[in-house]
Amino acid sequence: MSRAGQALRTSYLVACVAGVAFFVLSVALLGVWPARVLDAQTAAMAPEKPLEPTTSEKRGRAVYAREGCAYCHTQQIRYLHADMARFGAPTLAWETRRDTPHLWGTRRIGPDLSRVGGARSLDWHYAHLYAPRAIVASSVMPGYPALFDGAPDRPRQDARDLVAYLDSLGRARELAGPEGEARAKEGCNCPDDEMQQMAFEGALNAHPARAIRTLESAPSLAGGDLARGQALYGRHCANCHGATGAGDGPGARYLVPAPARLAEHSYTTARLAEVLWHGVAGSAMPAWRDHSTEDRAALARAVQALSAPRPEPEVPAHLVALGRDVYAANCAQCHGVDGDGRGSAAAKLAMAPANFTAQRLSLTEAVRVLREGVHGSPMAPWTTRLTDAERLAAAHYVRSLFRATPPATEAR
Ligand code: HEC
Ligand code: HEC
Ligand code: HEC
Repeated sequence: MSRAGQALRTSYLVACVAGVAFFVLSVALLGVWPARVLDAQTAAMAPEKPLEPTTSEKRGRAVYAREGCAYCHTQQIRYLHADMARFGAPTLAWETRRDTPHLWGTRRIGPDLSRVGGARSLDWHYAHLYAPRAIVASSVMPGYPALFDGAPDRPRQDARDLVAYLDSLGRARELAGPEGEARAKEGCNCPDDEMQQMAFEGALNAHPARAIRTLESAPSLAGGDLARGQALYGRHCANCHGATGAGDGPGARYLVPAPARLAEHSYTTARLAEVLWHGVAGSAMPAWRDHSTEDRAALARAVQALSAPRPEPEVPAHLVALGRDVYAANCAQCHGVDGDGRGSAAAKLAMAPANFTAQRLSLTEAVRVLREGVHGSPMAPWTTRLTDAERLAAAHYVRSLFRATPPATEAR
């Protein structure tokens, strides 16, 4: 064989061996090694007894995959301040260790869902899945009426499972508690890695709509711009509360408890500051913390403008006395002796009792609530326990507790 032929042969051999070697190397480097690093990291950082999904949640996950929710929603909070401010702590590997195939998604047409667990009420989820635009006017999310039996309050098993799954997102990490976080931090072993440390900074769940029941006070609001508030109200609130505040928006009939009839209420600005910051825990009323202080002040103005001032009825003295007695005997344990919503039983209730010092209902609305109760809340109808006259007296009495400008310390 000529020398040239020999050289060619050797180069074929070298190319062949190099090709195979590169293939093996890339499989090891890109396939095997990262998986081992991730497994080790997961083992080191996962809590000792991570919360496992229930059967219903597993089925819901399959529905989520089948319906293609991942085409519009991510389930991955990145190590970016913008992501963390909006949704909470970045996703750790162990949180999605059961995700095969994973549902992280790559496009955010809708918001990230990895911390949506506990952020929305059941009725909100069902109504939103059935007809998104009944709840969020500008939504581009498609409806999924096939998961229901003709109405949002008749979810099929698939819808129940799907919502159970949504409600479980982010919960395992939250329930792992401070011990879980401490373990993850230790397992990370990265005190000097600024980016890794981000996983343990700030709030675990910063979902902006998450309603929080707390006595912590909210940033105060004053001097809102009415025109701006009305525009915002039309965009964000009218779907539930109705364009005129009559509680009759397109989403209202699906929600339990129903959206408040804002036009029948006067609220102090302090009370609205609390409601817009914290939402109403136990109802579909979201928190609006992601809106600027100016926007929330404008919204508060717009809500106050919904109820026209009306002439106050004269209340006969005997009615006031009767009302006080009825209230002390039946209402004070929840609504508080002074009507500030802090009765002895209040903390045990699923929903906070109304604070009458900061909000006043119209007389007809108060009489209606006492007759019908607030369906879906601990406030029961009082038709069997109280006579018509006693309910009327109680309605007058709770209205009299309103203080237009309550001392700052007593604002709830
Ligand atoms: C075409 C894109 C698209 C698809 C597909 C889609 N969504 Fe959405 N989704 C959105 C958008 C946009 C929003 C924000 C507006 C709104 O709340 O409706 C949203 C909002 C949501 C929210 C509220 C999130 C929050 O943080 O408040 C949930 C929950 C949700 N979607 C669940 C689902 C589920 C479950 C599916 C599959 C059955 C799904 N979405 C399919 C676009 C989509
Ligand atoms: C998804 C539906 C929904 C949307 C959107 C919504 N609300 Fe509500 N809101 C409710 C429900 C339900 C309640 C009733 C809670 C209850 O029974 O206490 C409520 C209650 C309220 C209350 C009364 C709270 C109280 O303690 O009496 C105010 C004030 C209020 N909402 C203002 C707003 C404003 C302002 C917006 C827009 C930025 C808004 N809501 C958007 C559903 C909604
Ligand atoms: C078991 C505790 C409990 C008792 C007892 C109770 N309430 Fe309530 N009440 C509540 C809760 C909780 C709410 C808030 C419901 C909501 O936010 O939708 C409420 C709401 C109300 C409202 C509506 C407030 C609004 O702005 O829409 C009125 C009026 C009211 N209660 C009056 C009374 C009167 C009068 C009595 C006594 C006859 C009474 N309640 C007894 C728990 C109670």
